[in-house]
Amino acid sequence: METIVSGMRPTGNLHLGNYFGALRNFIKLQDKHNCYFFIADYHSLTTHPNPADLHKNVRTILSQYLACGLDPEKATIYVQSELPETAELYMFLNMNAYLGELERVTSFKDKVRQNPNNVNAGLLTYPTLMAADIIIHRATHVPVGKDQEQHLEMTRTFASRFNNMYKVDYFPEPVAYNFGEELVKIPGLDGSGKMGKSEGEGNAIFFVDEPEVMKKKIMRAKTDSGPTEPNQAKPQEIENVFSLMKLVSTEDTIKFFDEKYNDCSIRYGDMKKQLAEDMIAFTTPIRERIKEVENDSEYLRRVVRHGSEKARESARKTISEVREIIGFKSF
Ligand code: TRP
Repeated sequence: METIVSGMRPTGNLHLGNYFGALRNFIKLQDKHNCYFFIADYHSLTTHPNPADLHKNVRTILSQYLACGLDPEKATIYVQSELPETAELYMFLNMNAYLGELERVTSFKDKVRQNPNNVNAGLLTYPTLMAADIIIHRATHVPVGKDQEQHLEMTRTFASRFNNMYKVDYFPEPVAYNFGEELVKIPGLDGSGKMGKSEGEGNAIFFVDEPEVMKKKIMRAKTDSGPTEPNQAKPQEIENVFSLMKLVSTEDTIKFFDEKYNDCSIRYGDMKKQLAEDMIAFTTPIRERIKEVENDSEYLRRVVRHGSEKARESARKTISEVREIIGFKSF
């Protein structure tokens, strides 16, 4: 059985892109593997959030992940800051992480460019913290996308550097979990490639969107003036609407609008109305569960306590072995 670790940044409400991208895969993995899923709240300190916001964001993301189907009985779900062993391992790894290699990381260079007045040490050592997150459980696999490949590569570097330095074969070198099927890319509503918050307000469909809001957003999705010839290729924005439909509508529905497109009789207003209806039907049970979970402090407390106990069991073992290897032996 593989040991899998993944972290989720507490950045706000979950949208459909998050769900069909990473989350749905986490839900599959938790049935088959030893999974650790945590909320990366130490990482968020690089941007200096205020305490109330930080807590609110952790609570939001935790509730929404649980409502979508992450199961605390199957996976170990915890909050990073409840696992101080991670911070200790992060410090150890930093002793062997070099300025040059950290400065060369693409995500660091991007952050420096975006925010030249906040180039802090936490930002520079983001990859060592992420490596600590992963190897604290001696994970073998990390289900991340392309944007995290470089961080994962550095995790392997730090793990093997530790092994070589102390002549041990202690940390596995974790690799990206390969999902076999191609990762689905979820388009946004603005006609461009990707659903995301940063692409502007109306681009993403959030699980917490109330039905009227969701419908309005979908009705405003970018479309063109319609096909003029039979069986014409679909432009990107039309392809996007079909892609979203494939996530939530029946095959018959998709076939119906596809045929209408091909014989040039399609009315995008009708198509979007149908998409909105199916999208609302798909997201409503999740939205309702989010509200339930978010208001159930007792449940959240139990989940977090249970998760951090399990995570700490694994982390404490690693840290005590690492201390022994490094030479911090007890008297
Ligand atoms: N860097 C990841 C992201 O931006 C979040 C993360 C932090 C993570 N620690 C991790 C992911 C450990 C996987 C494993 O999405």
